[in-house]
Amino acid sequence: MGERLRCAVIGTGAFGLEHLTSLSQCHRAAAVAIAESNPARAKEASERFKIPRSYSDYREVLEQADIDAVTIAVPNHLHAQVAIEALKARKHVLIEKPMALSAKDASRIIDTAAKMRRTVMVDQNYRSTVTRKWRNW
Ligand SMILES: NC(=O)c1ccc[n+]([C@@H]2O[C@H](COP(=O)([O-])OP(=O)(O)OC[C@H]3O[C@@H](n4cnc5c(N)ncnc54)[C@H](O)[C@@H]3O)[C@@H](O)[C@H]2O)c1
Repeated sequence: MGERLRCAVIGTGAFGLEHLTSLSQCHRAAAVAIAESNPARAKEASERFKIPRSYSDYREVLEQADIDAVTIAVPNHLHAQVAIEALKARKHVLIEKPMALSAKDASRIIDTAAKMRRTVMVDQNYRSTVTRKWRNW
């Protein structure tokens, strides 16, 4: 895999599949694992994108030392919780919009990223070029 950023996609519903599609086209990053609580969705995603490692609990992904970054495509109420835990596990993070359900939680994410010296980005794909930047890593 060389210099490619090793990513895990957390939540492989409608938009997690978009993340996997983007990562499959990326020259500088690759999806190496997924975390999905619905077994049927996990099976579909791992088979379709040939992802070798599939976990039902996202915390298992965060324990994997070889994973550099995670993308978060779980329901909105879980964004802040998963993002903060991922940053504390020293992963870079791409969060689906909305970043969080409150400004307070969004600030907690930013503060944790600064403290852990990790990059956090939000997929506001209709408002910025963040998604394109992610793809060009
Ligand atoms: N950027 C965009 O244009 C855009 C478009 C659509 C959706 N979204 C965002 O993407 C996120 C996901 O939306 P969706 O439409 O894909 O929803 P979805 O319900 O299709 O997918 C969410 C997935 O997360 C899984 N999940 C739930 N809890 C989990 C957990 N604890 N651990 C692992 N997996 C878990 C569910 O089983 C499901 O498969 C939302 O935050 C939504 O706002 C962004």
